[in-house]
Amino acid sequence: MSKFLIEIKKLYKQFENRNSNIKVLNDINLNLEPGKLIAIVGPSGSGKSTLLHLLALLDKPTRGKISILGYSTSNLSENKKNQIIRDHVSIIFQNNNLLSDFTALENVAIPLIIRNKSYNYALKKAEKFLKKVNLGHRINHFPSDLSGGEQQRVAIARTLIAETKIILADEPTGNLDYKNSQDVFSYFLKLKEKNKIILIATHNRELAKKADYTLSLVNGNIKRLNG
Ligand SMILES: Nc1ncnc2c1ncn2[C@@H]1O[C@H](COP(=O)(O)OP(=O)(O)O)[C@@H](O)[C@H]1O
Ligand SMILES: [Mg+2]
Repeated sequence: MSKFLIEIKKLYKQFENRNSNIKVLNDINLNLEPGKLIAIVGPSGSGKSTLLHLLALLDKPTRGKISILGYSTSNLSENKKNQIIRDHVSIIFQNNNLLSDFTALENVAIPLIIRNKSYNYALKKAEKFLKKVNLGHRINHFPSDLSGGEQQRVAIARTLIAETKIILADEPTGNLDYKNSQDVFSYFLKLKEKNKIILIATHNRELAKKADYTLSLVNGNIKRLNG
């Protein structure tokens, strides 16, 4: 297998509307190796979320290739695709996508429950991960009773518990105060030691500086800035 966890070749994505085409990614090439924390920066509308959604296999490229852990993702069966997502890729969405009818604890437990782990085991582990994001005192709250920043931390815990090789985070610290974004980021930094890839779209320059390197997305092109 190649040393890269993610390989992107000539990835092209456009959105077609009734009377216009929006070209978002213009033949980008990128190889990402494990054990790195990588920041993605770029102006609003430059395609950061689009790229992360394509890597999470939630959307399809217009043209081009994405391989994840050596699997070419263009001609996978639904089953195989779902298995790759479940076992290898987690995403923290820009709007945190918590399930409103479930408590914080249950939301965090979901990635384990869908892998057929026992309910009690999943809840125990979920509590541990909520404590890691400083939410041990909110485990039985429903999303609507949590602040934006707290909801974001629940979403982060839900991603961390999955312990996947690939972690995609779309402006994960956008709703967090200084202390909580520092805490969350230092947790991400620990994960890269476990040979994961953590890809974070962020506007936070200070946090981007702590990444191994930064990718800048401008006018459909991607450029490595440092490192
Ligand atoms: N489903 C969609 N249909 C049409 N246009 C879209 C869709 N999703 C995103 N876009 C457009 O693609 C561009 C990139 O969006 P996005 O990836 O969300 O940027 P960013 O996350 O960098 O702010 C924007 O111009 C946006 O309006
Ligand atoms: Mg976005």
